[in-house]
Amino acid sequence: MGRAIERVLTARHHEVCGRVSSNNRDQLPACLAEADMAIEFTRPDSAVEHLGACLRAGVPVVCGTTGWLDRYGEIQQLTDRLGGALLYSSNFSVGVQLFFALNRKLAQAMSAHGNYQAEVRETHHIHKRDAPSGTALQLTADILAIHPSYHKWSDETSPEAGTLPVISSREGEIVGFHAVRYHSITDEIEIRHNAHSREGFANGAVLACEYLLNKKGIYTMKDVLQLNDW
Ligand SMILES: NC(=O)c1ccc[n+]([C@@H]2O[C@H](COP(=O)([O-])OP(=O)(O)OC[C@H]3O[C@@H](n4cnc5c(N)ncnc54)[C@H](OP(=O)(O)O)[C@@H]3O)[C@@H](O)[C@H]2O)c1
Repeated sequence: MGRAIERVLTARHHEVCGRVSSNNRDQLPACLAEADMAIEFTRPDSAVEHLGACLRAGVPVVCGTTGWLDRYGEIQQLTDRLGGALLYSSNFSVGVQLFFALNRKLAQAMSAHGNYQAEVRETHHIHKRDAPSGTALQLTADILAIHPSYHKWSDETSPEAGTLPVISSREGEIVGFHAVRYHSITDEIEIRHNAHSREGFANGAVLACEYLLNKKGIYTMKDVLQLNDW
C-alpha cells in the first residue's frame, strides 16, 4: 500500500517527506517533525503505537491498517485529549464506501422481512493476516446496528437464530471481494464488491489526507464522500 499511495501522492503533486517501515522505525520522530500529514498502513500489532506517535507529534493521521479496532477507544480518547486529527477507514476504496452505503440501505429495507436470512462473505489473498477483513467487520457492524433480527456475528456458516454468519476465505492473490446476501425459500438478493487493484485504496487514502489537512477531530470516509445521510 505504501508504494501505491506514494504513486498517487506524487501524481497529485504532494511531496513525500519520509517513509518508515520496519527496518527504519527509529526515523519516525524525525519524519513526523517534517510532515503536515501522516499515512499509516502497517500491521495490526504496530498501528496503535504509530497512531499515538503521530498524535503526540501533532500530525494529523490517516490510518488504513486493519485488525487493531479492539484498541480504537484508546486512540479516540488520545485524539480528543490532544486535540488531534484522525481518519480511520477499514477500506479507502470509494466503490467500497458506496457499497457500505448500499449495505446500510438494504439492511434498513430488509428489516421488515424476517423471512430472509442475511450472510456476509469475504475473500482475500493468502497473505492477509486478519480475518474477517476490516471491511467485512464494517458491513457486519452496520447490519447489526440496523437489522433487528441480528444481535451478534459468527464465523460459522449456519449459526443459531439472531447470529449473522460472516464467512472468510483466503485464495491466491485476490485483492478484495465482499458480498452481502439475503436469502429466503423463494429468492435471494445479493450485493457485491470486487476490487481489481490496490490503486482504489490508494486514491481514497490520498483523498482522505487532502480532506483531513488543517482539521481537528475524528472523521471517516463518510465525511470525505458526504455519505453521512446514507
Ligand atoms: N483500509 C484500506 O483500504 C486497506 C487497503 C489495503 C490494505 N489495508 C491494510 O493495511 C495494512 C498494510 O497492508 P499492506 O498490504 O500494505 O501490507 P504490507 O505489504 O505487508 O506492508 C506493510 C508495511 O508496514 C511496514 N511495517 C510492518 N511492521 C512495521 C512496524 N512495526 N513499524 C514500521 N513499519 C512496519 C512493513 O515494512 P517491512 O516491509 O520493512 O516489514 C511494510 O512496509 C494491513 O493491515 C492491511 O489489512 C487496508
